Amino acid sequence: MRKLLFLTLCIFCCSVKAQKFEGLAKKPPMGWNSWNKFECKINETIIREIADALVKTGMKDAGYEYITVDDCWQIGRDSLGNILADPAKFPSGMKSLVDYVHSKGLKFGIYSDAGTQTCQGRPGSRGYEFQDARTYAKWGVDLLKYDWCNHGKQNAEASYTIMRDAIYKAGRPMVLSICEWGTNKPWEWGAAIGHTWRTTEDIINCFDCKNNWGGLGVLQIIDLQVEIGGYSGPGHWNDPDMLEIGNGVLTVNEERAHISMWSMFSAPLIAGNDIRNMSAGTNEVLTNKEVLAIDHDGLGISATRWMKYGELEIWFKPLNDHDFVFCFLNRSNQPVTINQDLKTTIKNYKVDGSYNVRDVWKHKDNGTTEDNIKGTIAGHDVLMLKLTRK
Ligand code: GLA
Repeated sequence: MRKLLFLTLCIFCCSVKAQKFEGLAKKPPMGWNSWNKFECKINETIIREIADALVKTGMKDAGYEYITVDDCWQIGRDSLGNILADPAKFPSGMKSLVDYVHSKGLKFGIYSDAGTQTCQGRPGSRGYEFQDARTYAKWGVDLLKYDWCNHGKQNAEASYTIMRDAIYKAGRPMVLSICEWGTNKPWEWGAAIGHTWRTTEDIINCFDCKNNWGGLGVLQIIDLQVEIGGYSGPGHWNDPDMLEIGNGVLTVNEERAHISMWSMFSAPLIAGNDIRNMSAGTNEVLTNKEVLAIDHDGLGISATRWMKYGELEIWFKPLNDHDFVFCFLNRSNQPVTINQDLKTTIKNYKVDGSYNVRDVWKHKDNGTTEDNIKGTIAGHDVLMLKLTRK
């Protein structure tokens, strides 16, 4: 009898499997991350001021929610292996910083790495996954960006699964943002493990360029999304990396193109600029609610590239309520003139003449689909048109 009871218990325990926390990212996460602007030059004052600015600038109202401290917050481990925040940069400690961010009605994200060290040589979570997840849970962390440097011969899927299980065991729901750079095709296995996965190497602050070490510009990242849109959806999103809007290099046209295409992909929208000192123009690009609504559309379907005429591409995305978006992307730095009939059938979606057309950047109606769309698109800019049934 005792043996039977033991066996039944074992079977029960083995079947209570760790899993990812569901329901945390029904829409692509939005927020701010310290890396693109500050790299390792972070401290608690900056993070607190960014939290204040997120509220003051209207970004919080527009939907930006997570504040994530990226690499370089960690300094070592104590004798028990607990991860330690750098006391010079975070003298009040992480818990108090998390509390501050929460007090603003925002959520807190933290960064670690699946390998032995982070990309900046700080302690990674390899071998400490459960302990680190417990620490983050104790601090009140809501999101973990989990990087892939110094992973040696580790298997990516297995490594990310360990952290997923560790978070589950720690008992606090956290978005798991897989930052594996697309090396092992995380779109094929990431949905059961995390909520977002990076699809490419790091973004660099330029529209059309490529670095030898692998950094990619906005256009180069867009090109890598063409084949993988189908893997993304509510709860599990392709992540083409954070935004470079407001970081002083992209023109306003390029910034519009950047956030428009990220919204076409239903990508996480993670601002990466110093929002304490941003221009009104940058603020406007980051908080265009008509564009953000496309990113956050309930269907969560990533766009398809419908047409490519040389340097002009037309991307298509179905929306809730049988609405659609067409985004014309002018890759060249010269203006392009268009005269385009939008009546078509794309992947079983029929676009006929019965739609009103709205330019979501000009905030103006632009005729109906009965007529061709005509006009000029500036270099490195987009024309983003939302179609609503008449
Ligand atoms: C990697 C990631 C970046 C950033 C840095 C920090 O390169 O892809 O997004 O987190 O590490 O070191």
